[in-house]
Amino acid sequence: MDWQSFFRKNLEQVDTYQPGLREDQVWEFVEADKIYKLSSNESPLPPFPWALEAIQERLVLLNEYPDGSSYELTQCLSKHYGIASEQIMIGNGSNELVDLIAATCLNPGDNAVYPWPSFVVYRSSTLIQDAECREIPLKGTGQLDLSAMLGAIDERTKIVYICTPNNPTGAVVSDVEFKDFLDKVPSHVLVVMDAAYEEFISDESAVGPLKYYDGVRPYVVLRTFSKMYALAGLRCGYGFAPAKFVEVLNKVREPFNANTLAQAAAIASIRDTEELKERAALNALNRVRLENCFEKLGLNYVPSQANFVWVEVPDPQSTFNELLKRGVIVRSFPGAGGLRVGVGDNEGTNATIAAFGELFG
Ligand SMILES: Cc1ncc(COP(=O)(O)O)c(C=O)c1O
Repeated sequence: MDWQSFFRKNLEQVDTYQPGLREDQVWEFVEADKIYKLSSNESPLPPFPWALEAIQERLVLLNEYPDGSSYELTQCLSKHYGIASEQIMIGNGSNELVDLIAATCLNPGDNAVYPWPSFVVYRSSTLIQDAECREIPLKGTGQLDLSAMLGAIDERTKIVYICTPNNPTGAVVSDVEFKDFLDKVPSHVLVVMDAAYEEFISDESAVGPLKYYDGVRPYVVLRTFSKMYALAGLRCGYGFAPAKFVEVLNKVREPFNANTLAQAAAIASIRDTEELKERAALNALNRVRLENCFEKLGLNYVPSQANFVWVEVPDPQSTFNELLKRGVIVRSFPGAGGLRVGVGDNEGTNATIAAFGELFG
């Protein structure tokens, strides 16, 4: 059977997404009693109790389709951020919004400019539309090279992605750098600011994703409930974009893309609470503990503003295996000179520090 003839030619270039390892896949390699899954930039903490209550209340409604317009969630976000509801888009994770933006904007032969390495879906969503990927290597120890990104833009560029903090390096773009960049991006290019890890930022010089959002210029901000709000398993992301953009994107999306439980949990989660601040502080504390550990062991790392840290190691695959033996699952990237280590809770961070100490101390 020649299956190739059934498929669109451009899909030959698309790699299947490789998720981080799950606990049940690795027990046979683990010599410790406990596993810390620090491979997928998830929250090590459970969802907020009020989100779990909201989910519980909606379970009996699962015979019905969700609200296809995510009306209540959109209203709630509108109030929370002071942005008109027509400028809000909801996705089955912000991952879906990246896919939808590509499907909305890219014609074959157009191109998208983005940093590399960065979130792999910028690449797959571009290739699926038969558009060209312009991948701009990070500079320094893992920072976005905004001037090289500007230099890669031409008349066929439709989208430029800014990922800050960048996955997998955790580096942020500063406010000064971003303002200069935004001033120079030509008006035919949509700037997509992917702020999936925004809630973890403590560096005050970092750009705030909404600072330059005006609902008019081609500038879109993406955010998610998966990380700080600990709802990765439910899939709910959101974004802000000019009303015309949201209107057309809604033509492309599946009518019931955000499920009932995701909408309910998101509505319950989006409030400024002490617990949110405490979670950010806990992450920042354990992030510094990890960075100090790498520093002490003489390992190069990228100062991070996210819930993970990129660390260089001489042999990433063997370090990955040795960490796994000790119950710490991190993320390896084929061909890269380092590992992405998730910031755990106190216990997970203790385990990670102990494991690195054994390997490199
Ligand atoms: C930079 C970035 N953007 C977007 C996403 C997608 O997140 P979600 O689809 O869970 O909202 C991720 C997930 O890891 C990410 O790292």
